[in-house]
Amino acid sequence: MTAGGADATSGHLPVLYAQVLDGLRVHGDGRYLDGTFGRGGHAGGVLERLGPDGRLLVMDKDPDAIAVAEHRFGDDARVSIRRGSFADLASWDAAAVAPLDGILFDLGVSSPQLDVAERGFSFGKDGPLDMRMDPDAGERAADWIARASEAEIADVLWTYGEERMSRRIARAIVARRAEAPFLRTADLAAVIAANVPRKHKPGQKETHPATRSFQAIRIHVNRELADLETGLDAALDALRTGGRLAVISFHSLEDRIVKRFIAGHAKAPAGNRRLPEAAPFVPRLRIVADAARADEAELRANPRARSAVLRVAEKLAPGGAA
Ligand SMILES: C[S@@+](CC[C@H](N)C(=O)[O-])C[C@H]1O[C@@H](n2cnc3c(N)ncnc32)[C@H](O)[C@@H]1O
Repeated sequence: MTAGGADATSGHLPVLYAQVLDGLRVHGDGRYLDGTFGRGGHAGGVLERLGPDGRLLVMDKDPDAIAVAEHRFGDDARVSIRRGSFADLASWDAAAVAPLDGILFDLGVSSPQLDVAERGFSFGKDGPLDMRMDPDAGERAADWIARASEAEIADVLWTYGEERMSRRIARAIVARRAEAPFLRTADLAAVIAANVPRKHKPGQKETHPATRSFQAIRIHVNRELADLETGLDAALDALRTGGRLAVISFHSLEDRIVKRFIAGHAKAPAGNRRLPEAAPFVPRLRIVADAARADEAELRANPRARSAVLRVAEKLAPGGAA
C-alpha cells in the first residue's frame, strides 16, 4: 500500500481515505469492522493505526475480495475475515463482533468488479450478463432479464436508475428477448443505447446511455438497498457507546437511506399538535460532521470519487447522552 491507501496491484484507490480514517477515529486497541473490504484500501489504513491489541473484522460478499483479504491480511492475528453480506451482521456470534469502536460501509461496486469483464457488470467491456457481487447467491442479471415482466423491468430501471426512458427500454428488451435471450453485457447495452436519446453537451464527457439501466439492474440483482437498510440497523446495535459509523454512498438513493437513518436516530421528529404526545425521543446517534465529498485533487486522481458522499455518526449512551 502506498500513502493514501492506493493498492498498486489492483489499481484501486479508496475514496475519501483520510476523511474515513479521521471519521472512524481509529485508536490502537479498538475493534473495527470494514463491512465492504473490496481491495482493502481503507482496511489497510485502519490496520496501520491499530496496535497489537486492536482487532479488525473484514467482510465482503465477493469471493475475489475475500481472496485478496486472505492474501494480504490472512497471517495478521488482529484480522478476522468473513465472506458474506453486512446485512447478516446481526446473525454473527455477537461476542465475536460487538461491541465495535467503528464500522465502515463503502457501498457499491469496486473498480476491479467493474474492470473484469467476466463479472458482467460492465457495459463497456463485453462479458457474461451476471452482475452478482456474490456469484453463489441470488439471480444472475441474465436470468432476471429473461423472466421479469415488462412492467417489472420498467419499474426497476425507473426506481433504481431514475431512467426516464424506462418503459421504452423495457418494451425493447421484452421484444428482443422473444427472439434471442440476453446473455452478454454488450448485447444488452446495445439494445438499451438504441432506445435512449443522446444528450451530449459539447465539452462534457459523454456518459454511456446504458449507465443508468446497468446501475439499476445491479442494485436490483444484489438487493443493495434492502441490504443497506438491514446493515445500518445491525451496525447501530453492534457499535459501543462512542463508536463511529462511517458510510460512503455513490448515488442519491443510497445517500437518502443513510441520511434518513442517521437523522432519524439523531434528531427528534417534528411534532404534530393534532396527535397525542408521542413517547419522548431518545437519540441513539450524534451527527459528527456534514456530508463530506472528494476535493479537486482527489477527483483528478480518482474520477470514481465524483459521486461519493461520506456520512459519519457516533453512537450515544443508552439515555441519549454523548
Ligand atoms: C466500493 S468497494 C469497497 C472498496 C474498499 N473500501 C477499498 O478500499 O478497497 C465495495 C465492496 O463492497 C462489497 N459489497 C457491496 N455490498 C456489500 C454487502 N451488502 N455486504 C458485503 N460486501 C458488500 C462489494 O463486493 C465490493 O467489494
